Amino acid sequence: MFDFQYYAPTRVVFGRGAEARTGQLLRELGVNRVLVHYGGQSAVRSGLLDRVEASLDEAGIAHTRLGGVVPNPRLSKVREGARLARDFGAELILAVGGGSVIDSSKAIGYSLAEPEEDVWDLYARKRKPRGCFPVACVLTIAAAGSEMSNSSVITNEETGEKRGYRNDLCRLKLAIMNPELTVTLPPYQTAAGCTDILMHTLERYFTQGGTLELTDRIAEGLLRTVMKSALILRDDPANYDARAEVMWASSLSHNDLTGLGANGMDFVPHGLEHELGGMFDVTHGAGLSAVWPAWARYVYRDCLPRFVQFAVNVMEIRPGASDEETALAGIAALEDFFRSIHMPVTLKELGVEPTEEQILAMAASCAKGAGGKKGTAKVMYEADMAEIYRLAR
Ligand code: NZQ
Ligand code: ZN
Repeated sequence: MFDFQYYAPTRVVFGRGAEARTGQLLRELGVNRVLVHYGGQSAVRSGLLDRVEASLDEAGIAHTRLGGVVPNPRLSKVREGARLARDFGAELILAVGGGSVIDSSKAIGYSLAEPEEDVWDLYARKRKPRGCFPVACVLTIAAAGSEMSNSSVITNEETGEKRGYRNDLCRLKLAIMNPELTVTLPPYQTAAGCTDILMHTLERYFTQGGTLELTDRIAEGLLRTVMKSALILRDDPANYDARAEVMWASSLSHNDLTGLGANGMDFVPHGLEHELGGMFDVTHGAGLSAVWPAWARYVYRDCLPRFVQFAVNVMEIRPGASDEETALAGIAALEDFFRSIHMPVTLKELGVEPTEEQILAMAASCAKGAGGKKGTAKVMYEADMAEIYRLAR
């Protein structure tokens, strides 16, 4: 086991009706004025936004609202939110939504802490932040894990770049999670969310070196639970227990727990997806399942023991004649699982047919964003990334 630090400072309040306590919980944080940030129409239509604001009123917390965050959240909305929050004197950003709204809120938090700086510089790796205003959330989709992660992902619509930035300063003070709120999700978003959750653990699982017992069992338990729950939700979207399992898994999959003691994280599939998101505005989880099989078949020989372990312990593959055979059977089994929840396993199925020029541009941007190379299962350079896009077609 390699040395590690574990920092998970977010207070989680989980369960039915939890959002009714929003005002009281923010009061306990000493907050008087908040910007309520949300996405398109889902939180308005369901009445959630009204319920949350009523709870703020009850607690005597002043609030203003800004909606319109889109999936693959835009930099222009971050700038608008920062202006509004500053004018209003907001002390905390309350995200009512999923990863996109939370990430936009984190970026607003960075902007408020350093109004004289350009927030995009963080995502462009040009400087480090000195602070971030507090952020809390009422989560409405189990997927990105932003509610407990130290990451935020923003798209600069002027340059077409989608970039993640990780820093503990942005970790949420409070995450309110009521699984009931996710029942209104379209099936495609539920499935894409489950895919993203799986991928956050897989990106930590396929690494080199080190013996991990406890971390591996936690990771494998999470992967199996999410796959089981995803199938239940495909057939019975209102199943509370499956919604709850998936929602908690969303947080644990991306708060570093499932990779503690490993030798780094891979995150190449994520890097490849972020380019697809920036260029084609695809749904994050669907973009991940579209590139994963090609990535896995490209790298498995370089990370064979982990792929064999995955096949046996997670996908329940009987060890074959050779380790290669077992590893490939595990990859095929996960691919089949993605198909079973109607997730794409190629770019074509994702609805994207990039030209050779676009592939080269995405590979160049991905490599550049990562400082030239990325990955722990296998270190990838620009040419490798381009090849995976080609194989994923
Ligand atoms: O905008 P509304 O109308 O709310 O609709 C949203 C959106 O269209 C809808 N939705 C959310 N909750 C709903 C609902 N519809 C009905 N009922 C509900 N209860 O779902 C759609 C997707 O929402 P979004 O917030 O975009 O989903 P997700 O949580 O998957 O976030 C995706 C973003 O997070 C980034 C992704 O790259 C992407 O930009 N990620 C952030 C990470 C992080 N900060 O740690 C890590 C991830 O790897 C990921 O990269
Ligand atoms: Zn993700």
